[in-house]
Order: sequence, then C-alpha cells, then structure tokens
Amino acid sequence: MSDIERAAALIRAGRLVAFPTETVYGLGANALDAEAVARIFAAKGRPSTSPVIVHVDSVEMARRLAAEWPEAAETLAERYWPGPLTLVVPKASRIPDIVTAGLPTVGLRMPAHPVALELIRTSGTPIAAPSANRFTELSPTLAEHVAEHLADFVLDGGPARVGIESTVLSLAGRAELLRPGVIPLPEIEALVGPVEVSSGVGRGAHPAPGMHLRHYRPSTPLVLLGREAPPPAGHGAWLRLGLEMPQNAAEYAASLYEKLHELDRRGLDWIAVEPPPDRPDWAGVLDRLRRAAAEKVTR
Ligand code: TXA
Ligand code: MG
Repeated sequence: MSDIERAAALIRAGRLVAFPTETVYGLGANALDAEAVARIFAAKGRPSTSPVIVHVDSVEMARRLAAEWPEAAETLAERYWPGPLTLVVPKASRIPDIVTAGLPTVGLRMPAHPVALELIRTSGTPIAAPSANRFTELSPTLAEHVAEHLADFVLDGGPARVGIESTVLSLAGRAELLRPGVIPLPEIEALVGPVEVSSGVGRGAHPAPGMHLRHYRPSTPLVLLGREAPPPAGHGAWLRLGLEMPQNAAEYAASLYEKLHELDRRGLDWIAVEPPPDRPDWAGVLDRLRRAAAEKVTR
C-alpha cells in the first residue's frame, strides 16, 4: 500500500491526516463526516467559531458543495485553480455545520500540490483542513513542523512552495477579501471587478470569523523595526530585506515560516523584522507579519 492509499483509508475511516499543499501543510478530515471534523477542532484546540476550508480536486467537486456558484467563482477558479485561492460561497446542505462554524457559507479551495490532489481523489471525498498546527502556533511549511500526535498520519510532500496561507475571498454577496495571500488584489479585481477589503485585513485585527489575532505567531516576541532602529534588549535576530530575507515578495513568503520556525527553536528574546513595502504583492506577507507582531515586547 502506498502512503497516499494508507492516508486515504484513514480519511475514509474518519481519522486525521496531515498533508502537504502548496501554501502550508493541512490537517485533513473527511469534510462530509461531522465526527471526523470534530477531531480536527479537538486536536488543534481550535474554537468552534472558526470555519474550516474544504479542499476539492476539481471545479466540479466545488460546484457540488456550493448552493450557489457565482459567475465570479467560475472565472476565478478557471484562472487560479489549482492554486492558493479560497472562495467563500453559499454552502450545500451536505456540508455539516461544524465545518463552517454554523455559517451559511463554505470556503472552497483546489490546492496545487500533486499529493493533496491525489489524496482527495483516492479518498473519494472533499477534505476539510485548517493548517496543521495547534491553534496558537505557526503554520507548518515542512512535514517536520507538524507536531507529533496532532495527526494519525503525516504525508511528507517536501517544502510548501508558496509558504503562507491562501488568499480568502468571499463571493457570498459583494466580493470581499477576508485574508490576503500571495495573489495581488488588483489582479483579482481586473477579472471580477471591485473587491471590498475586510476592515481588519492587514491590521492585526479580526476581519472574519476565525481570523483570530493569535494566528501566525511564533512564541518568540516579534517586532517590526526599521533596520536603523535600536534593537530590543537581550539576544535576538534580525530579518532584513535583501540580507537575511529575500527582496522578492514570492520568495520572501516561501521562506518566512520556515525561518520563523527555525528562529523560534533558538530561545531568543526577540525577532526584529524589517517591514516590507506596503504594496499589493506584499499584502499577504505584511498581514502575517502584523499579526505576528501584535503582542508588544515588554522587557
Ligand atoms: O492555505 C490555506 O488556506 C491552508 C491550507 C491547508 O489550505 N489552510 C488554512 O486554513 O489556512 P485555516 O483554517 O488556518 O484558515 C482558514 C481561514 C479561516 O481563518 C477563516 O477565516 C476562513 O479561512 N474561512 C473559512 N471558511 C470560511 C467561511 N465560510 N466564511 C468566512 N471565512 C472562512
Ligand atoms: Mg491556520
């Protein structure tokens, strides 16, 4: 039996499988099995008010899980799927309420990773999956980042190529950006028209159900600091553009969490990050950095 067949058998049996996607590793369960999805919430320590993204292996599968599939969803899926874009649409009744935290909508995404797609296909069911970390921890971008005992099985698919979580766009009503990712918003707007930006996006606030402040945070205090600023007291590490970190937004995103995981293991007093430019191509990275920095250093 291959690893994917073994993982698919576990999914069908209502168990949890950590699997690679192009963004971050997911903690997956059969999206049509409420008890299996309840295990995700228990394992992560995730509040039941936080909806989970449902992963599909085709646009057809997505349409079957939506009560409505707007024109804009078709356009965006055609352009970006498989890829790092989650589309929030009215949900079909087959999706248990626990998946969507009681909301009448569901977030759907077709991941651009061969292992993820093969797992969904072999399981024969859509897979509900948040990032494969405990609620307050950083998302995993390597199989080694997935905590022991979080999943019944971990599929290793190498490093996540994109490196930060998908762009989340609501198409239930007026188009609204709930979470920025690596796709620049102007590119989406060129295809489907104006998109509202959820009030908390980029400010470390609380833009959508489940977008809690403590997401995306290393346990080492992180501060956003210009490179000329005096560093905090104690032992720390800098992440500066073009020095410790790439100058290109996509490359930066691809290495950010791995870098933070690595620094987090060193028991430092602080991590100082030079803020990247406030531009559409950096919006996803900037959002994660602002969330990661939301707790001030108090020493
Ligand atoms: O890249 C990703 O999206 C990764 C991989 C595994 O696919 N998943 C991920 O899941 O980041 P999670 O649970 O950590 O983040 C999902 C976010 C939630 O914070 C929530 O705000 C939003 O997606 N979301 C999901 N369903 C929603 C819904 N029905 N309405 C509004 N927001 C929703
Ligand atoms: Mg997460």
